[in-house]
Amino acid sequence: MLVASVLSLKGGVGKTTVTLGLVSAALHRGVDTLLVDLDPQMNATTTVDPDSDPDNAGSNGRRRVSIAEVLDTPTAKVVGKALRTSQWGEHLRLLPGSERTEAHNHPDPGSKKLFRLAGALNKVSPAPELVLIDCPPSLGQLTRSALTAANRAVLVTEPSLFAVTGVQRALEAVQSERAAHRPTLQPLGVVINRFRPRVTEHEYRLAELKDLFGPLVLSPVLPDRSAVQQAQGAGVPIHQWPTAGAREIAQSFDALLDRLMRAGRLKTKR
Ligand SMILES: Nc1ncnc2c1ncn2[C@@H]1O[C@H](COP(=O)(O)OP(=O)(O)OP(=O)(O)O)[C@@H](O)[C@H]1O
Ligand SMILES: [Mg+2]
Repeated sequence: MLVASVLSLKGGVGKTTVTLGLVSAALHRGVDTLLVDLDPQMNATTTVDPDSDPDNAGSNGRRRVSIAEVLDTPTAKVVGKALRTSQWGEHLRLLPGSERTEAHNHPDPGSKKLFRLAGALNKVSPAPELVLIDCPPSLGQLTRSALTAANRAVLVTEPSLFAVTGVQRALEAVQSERAAHRPTLQPLGVVINRFRPRVTEHEYRLAELKDLFGPLVLSPVLPDRSAVQQAQGAGVPIHQWPTAGAREIAQSFDALLDRLMRAGRLKTKR
């Protein structure tokens, strides 16, 4: 089981977009995938499965079980109750997000709490091939739990003024969780999102990031395309959105998924 956590220090840079793009690429290829929505904003959940909103009562009037209850009580029984199949396809299961997950976002949690998510993922049956975790925009307990459960960290940034410090701090968080709790965790690299070629500021920031982080800057960079917002608004995987912009960005996600899956194979060979 390859577990990848998608994170950034800053909000709104494209974590959910990258997570969903990788989900879409994985489904396109028939990879059995689990999407974990750790963000209390639960944007990933509402995109892949609007009906599974756990903050709405189900038909029996009871609140649906979400990742928040899994983090309260990470037993196989609760994990089983929270797991849903998604409307995106039979190869995608979902541990849905909830506003209640915010209660698990302590800025300085004890080690024991950080392992709850990792423990819960080991209880998903049958085990998926790939787990993608969409993190909230902070480096508190939820993101650190996601790193403690992951083999690979995917850092996301826009090519903007504070990109370097944001990436630096996210990399430090990865290194500190690796040292303290998760020896198999490695950064896959940094995804540069919403890049616009020939925009001087973007070209400058990309060069700056490459200078500082070298091969950790993942290729291809993701272009800014309105198809991303259109497909998300319609709740459709980017691979199924019928425009040239969607095809272009879907191919970029295919390449990022290749890189991720290769990293997973290397890990299992060792
Ligand atoms: N490459 C892109 N091209 C066009 N729009 C994009 C692109 N990437 C992201 N967006 C849009 O930018 C907005 C923010 O993206 P997204 O929700 O993925 O960021 P996020 O980092 O998950 O935000 P948050 O920190 O709030 O969770 C969304 O409306 C999304 O559709
Ligand atoms: Mg998000």
